[in-house]
Amino acid sequence: MLRTRFTEMFGVEHPIVQGGMQWVGRAELVSAVANAGALGFLTGLTQPTPEDLAKEIARCREMTDKPFGVNLTILPTIKPVPYDEYMDAIIKSGVKIVETAGNNPEKYIPVFKAAGVKIIHKCTAVRHALKAERLEVDAVSIDGFECAGHPGEDDIPGLILIPITAEKLKIPFVASGGFGDARGLVAALALGADGINMGTRFMATKEAPIHPSVKQKLVDSDERQTALIFRTMRNTARVHKNGIASKVIEIEHQPGATFKDVQEFVAGVKGRHVLEAGQLDYGIWSAGLVQGLIKDVPSVQELVHRIVSEAEEIIAARLSGMMQPKAQAAE
Ligand SMILES: Cc1cc2nc3c(=O)[nH]c(=O)nc-3n(C[C@H](O)[C@H](O)[C@H](O)COP(=O)(O)O)c2cc1C
Repeated sequence: MLRTRFTEMFGVEHPIVQGGMQWVGRAELVSAVANAGALGFLTGLTQPTPEDLAKEIARCREMTDKPFGVNLTILPTIKPVPYDEYMDAIIKSGVKIVETAGNNPEKYIPVFKAAGVKIIHKCTAVRHALKAERLEVDAVSIDGFECAGHPGEDDIPGLILIPITAEKLKIPFVASGGFGDARGLVAALALGADGINMGTRFMATKEAPIHPSVKQKLVDSDERQTALIFRTMRNTARVHKNGIASKVIEIEHQPGATFKDVQEFVAGVKGRHVLEAGQLDYGIWSAGLVQGLIKDVPSVQELVHRIVSEAEEIIAARLSGMMQPKAQAAE
């Protein structure tokens, strides 16, 4: 068993988080993560209304009696989102952990805290982590440049981001972006994190409620098959590199191009169709560099158990086996 400030704070067995994933973070996956002893997040906005979110929380509870949370991603959207009502649905459903992401969650923090809800804020920069700490979130999840989805605009990979965060932040934090196996977990702990957050790796599990072709594509792809779209708009997103992603990059680099020029290609419903129907070139879909490390589609239980048991072996056997008493080393 690996015990960290994270496992203590959130009352879970393992220092592993399954972060919010649009169209993927449903009860099937989140309950499997909870049952495996890790911390999963339902994705709030995957549910079309706050009432649907309340139903999804209830459905998840039927599948697990372990703790799980809800991700609330606060981003500018074409259609306004009733964030206050989603927040109410989370609180009224008795969920005790939220993962906030996207814009500044300042407005929501006091309300969640008054309801006894712990907050993990996900961000991509140390300065944003420090701001969240000042706003009294309980923990941070910090995404390096490797991550799927929005890596921010600073392009700092985990090898630098994690130890700098560890030096500056006082509250517990999980490292995110590029994690998929025991080696990553041990590295994150060594760099000063209290655990890891994974997105892409959890997509390639038996319980992830997405089409098998997407899971197989993650297994077949290597680390070079992601693309960064929306760079020109300073709203970068790392997605799987397919024909649509390349088209979007080509268009956005044309002089005078704006979001309107790419809007039809990046529509959320198209990305959803990829994940649900397995038509891989129909829209854009998030995936991280870690796809280069994904070689199989295990159950969530197998995956979590494998990561934790191999991590223990790396620490207890491989790393401690490198230590030699000083006298012996000198011989
Ligand atoms: C398909 C997919 C959808 C995602 N959607 C969201 C989202 O709605 N909100 C959010 O905060 N993060 C989202 N993420 C980011 C993940 O929660 C996580 O931070 C990221 O995947 C970590 O990087 P990794 O994929 O290398 O593990 C998404 C990731 C993926 C792969």
